[in-house]
Formats: sequence, C-alpha cells, structure tokens
Amino acid sequence: MANLPDHVGIDFGTHSVKAVELGSIGTNRPRLVNLGSQATPKGAINSEDPMDQKRLADVLKKLYDASGMKNNKVVMALPEFSVFTRFLELPGVKEEEIKEAVYYEAKQYIPLPLNEVMMDYIPIGFNTERNAPRVLVIAASSKVVEIYLNIAKEAGLDLLAIETESLAMGRAIYKSTGKKAVVMLDFGANNTDMSILSDGYLVFSQSIAIGSDSLTQAIVNKFNFDIQRAEEFKRNYGIVPNVLEGKIYSVLSPIIESIMVEVRRGVEFYKSRTLSIAPADYVLGGDGALLPGIIEYISKSLNANVALANPWNNIQVDKNFEDIARKGAPSYSVAIGLALRDD
Ligand SMILES: Nc1ncnc2c1ncn2[C@@H]1O[C@H](COP(=O)(O)OP(=O)(O)OP(=O)(O)O)[C@@H](O)[C@H]1O
Ligand SMILES: [Mg+2]
Repeated sequence: MANLPDHVGIDFGTHSVKAVELGSIGTNRPRLVNLGSQATPKGAINSEDPMDQKRLADVLKKLYDASGMKNNKVVMALPEFSVFTRFLELPGVKEEEIKEAVYYEAKQYIPLPLNEVMMDYIPIGFNTERNAPRVLVIAASSKVVEIYLNIAKEAGLDLLAIETESLAMGRAIYKSTGKKAVVMLDFGANNTDMSILSDGYLVFSQSIAIGSDSLTQAIVNKFNFDIQRAEEFKRNYGIVPNVLEGKIYSVLSPIIESIMVEVRRGVEFYKSRTLSIAPADYVLGGDGALLPGIIEYISKSLNANVALANPWNNIQVDKNFEDIARKGAPSYSVAIGLALRDD
C-alpha cells in the first residue's frame, strides 16, 4: 500500500470532535504540529440528515480556524458503536481464497444485509496447529460511511482513509508503550469502547452502551443537582471511596461495575474464540478516564494492571502544547492513532 503523507487525525465523539496533526509520521519520532477540539452538536453524530452533516462540517471548519490548522489531508474514524468486528480463523483456506471465505463466513455474523455493508478484513497471522489464516473482519453500514464522506466533502477536506476508533487507539497504544498484548478501554460520553491487542494486532472490539455521561446523570438523579454541579462532583470526587462519606462512590461504583461486567464478558468471549490467554495489562483512554479513582477501582475489580494511556509518549511536543498534552493525555488517543496511520 502507498505510504500516507502527514495528515490530521479526526475523532468524532458524541461529546467532542478532536483533531491532531502530526509531522514526520513515517519516522520513529513523529512530532505534534497542531491539535484542537470542539464540542459536538447534540444528536449530530451518525445522523443521516444533511443539515446535521453540515453542522459537523462547520464544527471542523471552526476547529481548523481556532487552532490555525492548515493541512487539509485527513483520516477519520467511524464511531465504534457503528462498526462491527469479528475475529475469524479459516482452517485450510489458502491465501488467495481468504477474501471469498471471509465473505461467506461474514454472512452468518453480520447483522445487516451484505449489500448494505462495507466490509474489509485485516490479516492477523496464522494458526499453524489448525493450518488456519487469522483475520479480523470489519464491517460498517454503507450509509454510515457515506455520512463521513459527505462531512469531509462539505468541509473541503481530502479524506485519505477511514478506519475504526479501536484500530486507531491500538496503533497509538502500541507506538507509545511497545505493548503487544493489552486490553484498551476508551471511556467516552455515551459509550465505553473495549478492544484487545494481541501480538500487536487488534483482535477484538466492542462498544458498551454506558459512558461517563451516565455517571453525571446518576448524580443528578440521586441528589437533584443541576447537570453542571453534578459534572463538577463527578470530576472532583470520582470513585474514590470514603470521600464525602462515600456518597458519590456509592452512586458511581455500580455504573462502573456494570461496565466491568461487560468487559469481563468481552474478555471471556475473546478467550473462547482465540483460545488465547487474556492480556494482563489494561490501558484507559477517553476523557472519562480522567475520573478520580478509576484506575484503582478497575485494578481491583478486574485484578489487573491498569494504567492511563499516554499516547504522547514518543511524540515530540513543543513547549506551547506541553500543557494540553500532559493534562488531557488519554483524551487524544484515537486522534493520535489516526494521525499516525502511515499506510
Ligand atoms: N476530568 C474529568 N473527570 C471525569 N470525567 C470527565 C473529565 N473530563 C471529561 N469527562 C467526561 O468525559 C466524557 C467525554 O469524553 P470524550 O470526550 O472522550 O467523549 P467522546 O469521545 O466525545 O464520546 P463517545 O466516545 O462516547 O462518542 C464526558 O462524559 C465528560 O463528562
Ligand atoms: Mg470517543
């Protein structure tokens, strides 16, 4: 595949749109050229309404203006909740037969008619015991892909590639930690995306429909606070046991625990499909990962090594950006991964 030129990675979240421009991406020391984020208009993400797509294009224009970004070459991610991925082993299938076999197998798994779906697969090695090539099948509804093509066109951007949030996050985590086996959790506003890297390949991803906004809402419901006050309490106290007599903890921990139930389920599913052991390391991304106490909580709940993502590791960051990069380290994981894509 052709090498991609330096470009901007754009991550569309339901809470904010984040963009990162990197330079020297083909080298072992890429550098931050620019970055920015803007709030996402309510209900605009994945909307088929042309007006919503125009609103998102306007958000991009605003983001470019506000940050002074100039590079109009971009790579975007489809929100993980609109993507379907599946690990497959194809015993006895020869290399030239993989495409057809994937198509045949995918028919059984993909919950949409295949003529309404864009499908691709990534080769991820070979199981010698079963004489089976391994692939990750990725599918998304053609309508969703079209939405992002429209947004790029409307914003006057040159869309070089579209991929998924978890592929981008996997690249960012692998390049910043060198870790080849890790469970990644991206805590967003509406969703928590979970994905697994094994041997450096993305082998599993799922979107869990509980996000950090549910935590704020639970505080609103329990204490009758307005949203802003609830958001403040969430950010200040998080899930640290024993502060405010454990009142916030007792509201938030059942929600985080319900995410953990899905994470455990995801790991079990991955283990049964791949007959591999689960990675011992967990990395947290997304702004929701800034919740005080979340690392300790998850370490205990899953009995695992948990760390905050630092996708800036190994990227040269000038003084004028140092603060943003340090404070919001995990929040740009997906955008950085998109900007790092070089093939
Ligand atoms: N310091 C903080 N502590 C706790 N939560 C925070 C903090 N800062 C932001 N959040 C929460 O993080 C969420 C937004 O995260 P993020 O920007 O990663 O979401 P998104 O990518 O736009 O959404 P999604 O991935 O669900 O589409 C919001 O719920 C916000 O309240
Ligand atoms: Mg997100």
